[in-house]
Amino acid sequence: MKTKLHPTKNDLPENLRGKMIDLLNQQLADVLDLGLQAKQAHWNVKGPNFIGLHELFDKVAEELEEFSDDIAERAVELGGVALGTVQVISKNSRLPAYPLDLTSGQKHVAELSSSLAKFGTTTRTSIDSAARAGDADTADLFTEVSRGVDKLLWMVEAHMQSKD
Ligand SMILES: [Fe+2]
Repeated sequence: MKTKLHPTKNDLPENLRGKMIDLLNQQLADVLDLGLQAKQAHWNVKGPNFIGLHELFDKVAEELEEFSDDIAERAVELGGVALGTVQVISKNSRLPAYPLDLTSGQKHVAELSSSLAKFGTTTRTSIDSAARAGDADTADLFTEVSRGVDKLLWMVEAHMQSKD
């Protein structure tokens, strides 16, 4: 974080808080992008599994919105600024751009599951980074997010795992 932190009586060292704020903002950019990808799938999916996928993709977006709120608010709790504008997300997200021309349910499932898995990977890495740095609470937050993302990945991937 380049800017000065807001003063707080939170006793975590400033240097640690700064590191955690950067980590939280990186994950925030990714999860906000991921939530929009789920909405993109929700709006544009077509085909025989339309209603199930349309509703599932919306549920994915809703759950990701809760995670993004928790991640953003932890950055602010630590004295930082949550970076959640579309310009910052677009610059910082590490997810591949979601294709705009998909209609097939299977293709949406394939794309969204890849993005969920990628976010799952960086969330797990973030658990370790936060724990190693000495912020058990940020590690715990990422652990909760990681468990939730694994569940969403299961629900999306299940559509590719059996033909009947
Ligand atoms: Fe909707």
